[in-house]
Amino acid sequence: MIEKTGHVPVLLNEVMNVLEPKSMKTYIDATFGNGGYSRKILETLDCKVIAIDRDPLAINQAKKFKDEYQERFEFFNYKFSQLDNLLESLGTKNIDGFVFDLGVSSMQIDNQDRGFSFQNDGKLDMRMSQDGSTAEEIINEYSETDLADIIFQYGDERKSRKIAKKIVSERINKRITSTIELAKIVSSCFAKKYYKSHPATKTFQAIRIFVNKEIEELIEGLNAATKFLAENGKLCIVTFHSIEDRIVKNFFKITGSKNYISNENRENLLFNFKNKPIKPSDQEISDNRRSRSAKLRYGIRNFNNSKVISSNELGFI
Ligand SMILES: C[S@@+](CC[C@H](N)C(=O)[O-])C[C@H]1O[C@@H](n2cnc3c(N)ncnc32)[C@H](O)[C@@H]1O
Repeated sequence: MIEKTGHVPVLLNEVMNVLEPKSMKTYIDATFGNGGYSRKILETLDCKVIAIDRDPLAINQAKKFKDEYQERFEFFNYKFSQLDNLLESLGTKNIDGFVFDLGVSSMQIDNQDRGFSFQNDGKLDMRMSQDGSTAEEIINEYSETDLADIIFQYGDERKSRKIAKKIVSERINKRITSTIELAKIVSSCFAKKYYKSHPATKTFQAIRIFVNKEIEELIEGLNAATKFLAENGKLCIVTFHSIEDRIVKNFFKITGSKNYISNENRENLLFNFKNKPIKPSDQEISDNRRSRSAKLRYGIRNFNNSKVISSNELGFI
């Protein structure tokens, strides 16, 4: 079971089976968190890990890794959108593997002051990087139309208009400041019956994605990764909801297409992409409920010529 103080890495063995870390090679852990993936990679003698995480809370754990692994480990408190510049400035080309374990960590979810969860009451924050606009500002200051669009686009929530209307009518009387307050307002838009997941799940997911610009970040991260991957390098992505999985799947489809560069140059950039993702075993799901929606997709780098794939091409406008 998940410890309250840590994060149990999801699909760890499956990711390592794909990545197959080797001595003297360099790997990027783009979502360091508690360092579960980084540690497993570093167990391979002599390989190197460059890790990033946008949350300043990851810095402490990274310092412990630095003490333990010294020059084999580097950490930067950066976002996916800074990865391209970072790798350019480090002069690091030919990375042998990238891992992206998307979403939030158990440390972030379990800390009620971060506002990611409505299981406990906390302030409506939801910022992974701890900068920029908070969920509270968006919920209280955005127009009804904008809120409805956000909840629909990033939450696939059919009741988005009704929920946005209710939020706007409630905030006239009192500013909405806590996770439980928002969860109650959203729940009141649903009939009282049994739901498989809490009625506020999709709205919370949508606001979190919007606050953290998660889709834009993901697209920049995927493009940066393919630019720096070595020949036969692996790009592994673990997703947790259908919106990010759709982007990843489209990215692999486009880069895996024989017409990727042009109709004349019939070569693909990444290969070995399978339509069917790798999912956690029943045992992992029963040990760690958080893993239940995880999907691992990966591709292997073919040759050294990449171009940027736009959000439009990936079906995200
Ligand atoms: C699911 S956790 C990763 C857990 C990690 N694999 C482990 O084993 O401990 C996701 C982490 O990615 C970070 N993250 C999410 N989006 C990011 C982005 N755009 N840039 C950098 N870090 C990001 C979050 O702050 C969080 O710590």
